[in-house]
Amino acid sequence: MFSTQTYYKRREILAQAMGNKGILLFLSNGENPINFEDNTYPFRQDSTFLYYFGIQQPHIAACIDLDENRTVIFGDELSIDALVWMGRQEMLQTKCEKAGVKETRSYAELAAYIAIARSKQRKVHYLPPYQPANKMLLSELLHIPFQEIQPSVAFIQAVVAQRESKEDQEISEIEKALTLSNDMHLAAMRLTKPGMKEYEIAAAIQYIAAQENCGLAYPSIVTVNGGILHNHYQGNTLQSGQLVLNDSGCETPSGYASDLTRTFPVDPKFTTEQRELYQVVLHAFEGAKSQLKAGVKFKDVHLHAALLLSQGLIDLGFMKGKAEEAVQANAHTMFFQCGLGHMMGLDVHDMEDLGEQYVGYTADEPKENQVFGLKSLRLGKTLKAGHVLTIEPGIYFIPELIERWEAENKYKAFINYEKLNKYKTFGGIRIEDNFLIEETGYRQLGPELIRTVEDIEAYRQPF
Ligand code: GLY
Ligand code: MN
Ligand code: MN
Repeated sequence: MFSTQTYYKRREILAQAMGNKGILLFLSNGENPINFEDNTYPFRQDSTFLYYFGIQQPHIAACIDLDENRTVIFGDELSIDALVWMGRQEMLQTKCEKAGVKETRSYAELAAYIAIARSKQRKVHYLPPYQPANKMLLSELLHIPFQEIQPSVAFIQAVVAQRESKEDQEISEIEKALTLSNDMHLAAMRLTKPGMKEYEIAAAIQYIAAQENCGLAYPSIVTVNGGILHNHYQGNTLQSGQLVLNDSGCETPSGYASDLTRTFPVDPKFTTEQRELYQVVLHAFEGAKSQLKAGVKFKDVHLHAALLLSQGLIDLGFMKGKAEEAVQANAHTMFFQCGLGHMMGLDVHDMEDLGEQYVGYTADEPKENQVFGLKSLRLGKTLKAGHVLTIEPGIYFIPELIERWEAENKYKAFINYEKLNKYKTFGGIRIEDNFLIEETGYRQLGPELIRTVEDIEAYRQPF
């Protein structure tokens, strides 16, 4: 947890942003069963609950009652039965005091509290629920069917405005996650050799995080099929001539994430074809990074990366024509189907539960474009100092897409299908790092993780 003052101050800023009116209802996450009630997935607190209260405990709720100027946490201390099975834990009362909340009530009292507020026609603001149990709870508390659950836009916008601007202590947590993630990535590069299974590399990555009492920020992508964007299969045997795409990040005990990707050969050295394509991605990465600063629209950075990727692919003969025209026509999406990056913080895709239209875009800068490629750009709005985001350009060879678009004669003026067909099984290359936006530029977060062909080859062990 951060200091009591941190949570107190954050709630004060939120109250002001909400005009000191209404009730702000926060629901914690619950335990989720794997295969029966008592066998649960590891508990992860809701990130907004963590941000304003810092309390890591399931089945609690909080109300910031702006009309009555009080903050109440609803939850129960462990029963004697629970104590028998789980042992003594820090009291909820103590956790609440650390969060600067003096008033606690039993969880059962939440329903009555909300019922009284509703009977007085007071506005109850809540955020979009994503756990089914919380959808049911909201439906019960507010006496509305599921489909009428209407999260409060003002509440969402106030939370986003606050959470998207990272405090120094949050940056420092993210950098802790990045320091550990660097070790995870270096271990993967050291260990990799032909004959190993992808899951052996993934296990070594997870071991390093676990040794520091950290979890993963998301299931690692460790694959020789890097062309599949979120590939979670890890049963392939690494073969000479293949690339490994490793997208792994960890989560600190306080809940902050890192999100790093490196792509490297199974062999000690890149092949000529691998090196050529890798340099294109690296060039796009460097070009995109250099554009980062407050006031720049992230969509423009994305399109700049698309331009650099297209030019590189034209130079290598995968594409043809003029890069500007190819990007205008959307032809680059044969190779770069996703977005350049996203916000990061307490969530690897920070605040994704609150809605892309509020986090990655605004009412003034809405996501207008639903075309293939741009529709997957999670972040498009103008950047502000304090934002933390990823830059992650990539080139992905997707056999199904190549076959489909060739059959449709799509982008024939821009794509050299003859050459492309020889790369159907090449996989994919992504390079991803995390950045803090500053007024006049950016700061790359965490220690520098080797990225160039030369550095990766120098680091890879001969076997
Ligand atoms: N690790 C998922 C992503 O890069 O967005
Ligand atoms: Mn990412
Ligand atoms: Mn990633």
